[in-house]
Amino acid sequence: MPITLFQHSQQRHGNGLADVLQATAVAAVQIERALRTAALAGVLGAAGHENVQGEQQQKLDVLANETLSAALRGLHTVAALVSEEDDEPVLFADRPDAPYIVIFDPLDGSSNLDVNVNVGTIVSIQAREPGDDAVAAALQPGSQQVAGLYVNYGPSTTLVYTAGSGVHSFTLSDGEFVLSTENLCMPASGPYYSLNEGNLAESEPVYARVVAGLRDGSLTGERHSSRYVGSFIADFHRTLLKGGVFLYPPTTKNPKGKLRLLYEANPLSFIAEQAGGAATDGRQRILDVAPKEPHVRTPLIIGSRTEVSAVSGMLTGSPRE
Ligand code: AHG
Ligand code: MN
Ligand code: MN
Repeated sequence: MPITLFQHSQQRHGNGLADVLQATAVAAVQIERALRTAALAGVLGAAGHENVQGEQQQKLDVLANETLSAALRGLHTVAALVSEEDDEPVLFADRPDAPYIVIFDPLDGSSNLDVNVNVGTIVSIQAREPGDDAVAAALQPGSQQVAGLYVNYGPSTTLVYTAGSGVHSFTLSDGEFVLSTENLCMPASGPYYSLNEGNLAESEPVYARVVAGLRDGSLTGERHSSRYVGSFIADFHRTLLKGGVFLYPPTTKNPKGKLRLLYEANPLSFIAEQAGGAATDGRQRILDVAPKEPHVRTPLIIGSRTEVSAVSGMLTGSPRE
């Protein structure tokens, strides 16, 4: 009998967390349906206004945000929502003891929406002690996360999560996410490096040396090929399964990096570490960073231990022994 996401998470982590993960899964099923018929429903293209990130919101960004927010708002265990698409956190003041803060990127990879390339949903769950401030709970370091999850909408739609007991993947089948692989392990090293090489001229010169070392094999002893989808969840999912390294360095346009700590880097760094990989901002472990505000950005190097440690060694000037 196939195991569903709810059953899997309930058995390991109890009803409270399983309910939140299931609400996310229900929203993901609705988002997947909307993506599949978007071209016919006239919901491709820009929504006509910018989000707090200063980026053009796509109609499907708004739809995904509304779908996920509605699914989570209905759970009385959820104290607050923090979304890439909302300027401020949504606080449920009438739930002073609700234990969960749900933080999310409702649709990741928006620039790929109109060209039918994989996009995703990313969710991070933090715990809140009864009566504690919900925003402070949202700003805890990633090491405090209760769970990290992403959905990869592609030829098959997969959901990957960790709640601190390994990484498990589920495949969407007839409206349910059904267990496909338990205890996923990221290879200790891999054949790919992944970054937007069009930005290299805007980054510190050391990154060009890192890329040259990955390409010619001088960095880790193995040559690497380039793969870059432009949707973080797709580039990460390939790195999780095949190994290698994904980088989004600081650029002149994004001096702190482009990816957001709370709802992109943290959940996927939690998954990476649980699968035996690593994630840094070039100087420190991503999960140790204490954010000051919900939309803070971070440089990101994430993937196999071998590559992440070699790249971080080059960036900090302490090459691998
Ligand atoms: P989002 O669509 O949620 O804003 O995220 C887009 C991010 C991420 O998915 C991807 O890795 C990165 O943007 C790609 O950025 P570039 O187009 O600058 O390479
Ligand atoms: Mn994103
Ligand atoms: Mn997004």
